[in-house]
This record gives sequence, structure tokens and C-alpha cells, in this order.
Amino acid sequence: MFDSIQFDALAAEATAAAANAPDDAALRAVEREWLDKKAGRLSAILGRIPSLPPEERRGFGAAANGVKQALEAAIAARAAALEELRFAAALRDSSFDPTLPAARPALGSLHPLTLVQRELEDIFTSMGYHVLEGPEVELDEYNFQKLNIPADHPARDATDTFYTRTNAGHPPLVLRTHTSPVQVRAMERLKPPFRAIAPGRVFRSESTDATHEHTFHQMEGLVVGEDVTVAELVGTMKSFLRAVFRVDDLEVRLRPGFFPFVEPGFELDARCPFCTAGCRVCKGTRWIELCPCGMVHPSVLRAGGIDPERWRGFAFGLGLSRLVMLRYQIDDLRHLLGGDLRFLETFA
Ligand code: PHE
Repeated sequence: MFDSIQFDALAAEATAAAANAPDDAALRAVEREWLDKKAGRLSAILGRIPSLPPEERRGFGAAANGVKQALEAAIAARAAALEELRFAAALRDSSFDPTLPAARPALGSLHPLTLVQRELEDIFTSMGYHVLEGPEVELDEYNFQKLNIPADHPARDATDTFYTRTNAGHPPLVLRTHTSPVQVRAMERLKPPFRAIAPGRVFRSESTDATHEHTFHQMEGLVVGEDVTVAELVGTMKSFLRAVFRVDDLEVRLRPGFFPFVEPGFELDARCPFCTAGCRVCKGTRWIELCPCGMVHPSVLRAGGIDPERWRGFAFGLGLSRLVMLRYQIDDLRHLLGGDLRFLETFA
């Protein structure tokens, strides 16, 4: 009762109907005509299987299913083609121009402070330094007392800060005025000898102008060893400044400087690396003040649990914000944390 030609013709008729359907409605009509579970033409054909001689049923069923699969594939292909035609028509009707380059997503960029901080971290880790972080809300004890600045010491006046109200019985907290408290925290955690830097935010109760902000950035450095000397301190400063300013040699000088937590203490100046006639950076002095530093005071070593009879150290407090300003020739410190996109976008 059946032969393969009949099924081939059936498949050809069904797939042609699908392929020629002019729209979705027509395609759905083709689907109903052939595949409807009750009234579809293929259901009728499959319904004849039980009346066939047993040896013919399997072949007949397979052939009918072949038609069904071919038709389903043709319907899916036609549906996709219709969809594409619709899309192309919509494009034609709109003002969208697919040949234009895609809109560029708004890309952010690293903040200049982050750029310089990362660069310094690279330089110092290559010299064997740990990179440490300390709390920005610090115990008064670490910010001052363990650094040789007792409660009534006049050095506190130089760095007026924000004291936080604490619950009765809780030790007083301050917004740290410098990264130096990380010196003591480092000593408590690391076994000497060690080298460490600690970049981060610091705060001072300051009226703001082009060179003063209540929030700015420093980077502390601390080296503890058995025979650490001022010569090593100067050598270290020179090699990192050469790397930062990308010069082969950089002259530095030490002036005496007072900080209660170092003895002797210095102000380290560097030859102005930007100097031209009438230099605005160094204001014609040919020196830029860069880095207070000194040999760690024995009582600070002791406060950090390190025996000053056996160990010595040097420390420096780099003005990270200032270095960023020098590096990118930024004339107002307030730009750094001002959050003005026009400023930040110049570093993209
Ligand atoms: N902490 C000091 C300041 O903020 C700087 C300093 C650091 C000085 C380390 C000496 C040694 O002014």
C-alpha cells in the first residue's frame, strides 16, 4: 500500500509549503495542516499503521517520521528566515545605521594616586620590602604615645586631628595623622630583620588651600636590622627617587629635622628634577623637600617589642600626595580627592 516515492513526494510537498509560507500566520497554517495531532495529514497517515501487515509497520512508521522531521526542520528554518526579514525591514525603517562603529563604553581609569602608589610598591617590593596596611581610625596610643609623643607633648599641636568619641572605658581613637603608627604595628608583627612600606590615607584638622587638605596620602617606610645606618637610609632614598623620577643620578641632601620618633631626624631634599630657568616646582631653590626621615628612636623600637640594644632601624615618611603632584605637575592638592571627572579623565 505504500512505497518510498510516495513518502518522498509527501516530504517535498510539505517542506515546500513551509518554505514558501509568506508570513508567520501562513507558516502556522502549514504546521496545523500537517502536524495537528488530531486532524493533521501526518496523523492520518500514522493512524493507518495498525491496519498494516506486521512486517510493513516498522518501515512505514520510519518513513512517516522522516517526513515529519523534514517538515519540522523546514518550519524552523522558515521561521528564522521570516524573523530575519522582519529585522531587516525594521532596520530599513529606522534611522539605525549598522555600518557605524559601536558606541564606546565609558572606560574608567586608575587614579593618579593609585598609579604612583603601585609604582612605588613595585620599586620597594623589588628591594625586598613588605607592603603593609594600617587602620585609618587609629588608637591614640599608636598614632602618638608609642611614637614618643605623650599626651602633653607640643608635637601634637603640629598635627591637630579628628578625635572620635568613644564609649566610656574604650581607649581614645583618632583619625591617624600620619602613616607612622604602622611602624609600631609592623614591629609587633614582623620578626627583625625586615623592611616594609605602608602607603595610605592620613587626616589632619587643617584649613584647606592649594597645598593643605584634611585628607591626603603618605607612604611610610621602615627598615629594621642589626647594622642599619644613615648611609643605608640615604642610599635607599636615592635609588627609589631615581626610579620614581626616571633619572640616572639624583643628588640629595639631609637637613636636620625634628620628629619625636626618630633620632637623629632629617629632612631629605632632592635636586629638583624638573629644573628650568625660573622653575615653578622648586621656586628657583633647585631643591625639593621630599621626605622626612631618620633613625628609629630606641623607645619606639621598645614600644614595638624590639630590643634597641640589638636592633636599629631607619624610617621615612614620603608625601605620596606631594609626589603625585610633582610627578604629574598638578598645582592644587585639592584636585586629588575632589572627585572632578574632568581632572580624573586626563589620566585615562
Ligand atoms: N610621620 C611624619 C609626618 O607625617 C614623617 C616622618 C616619618 C618623619 C618617618 C620621620 C620618619 O610628618
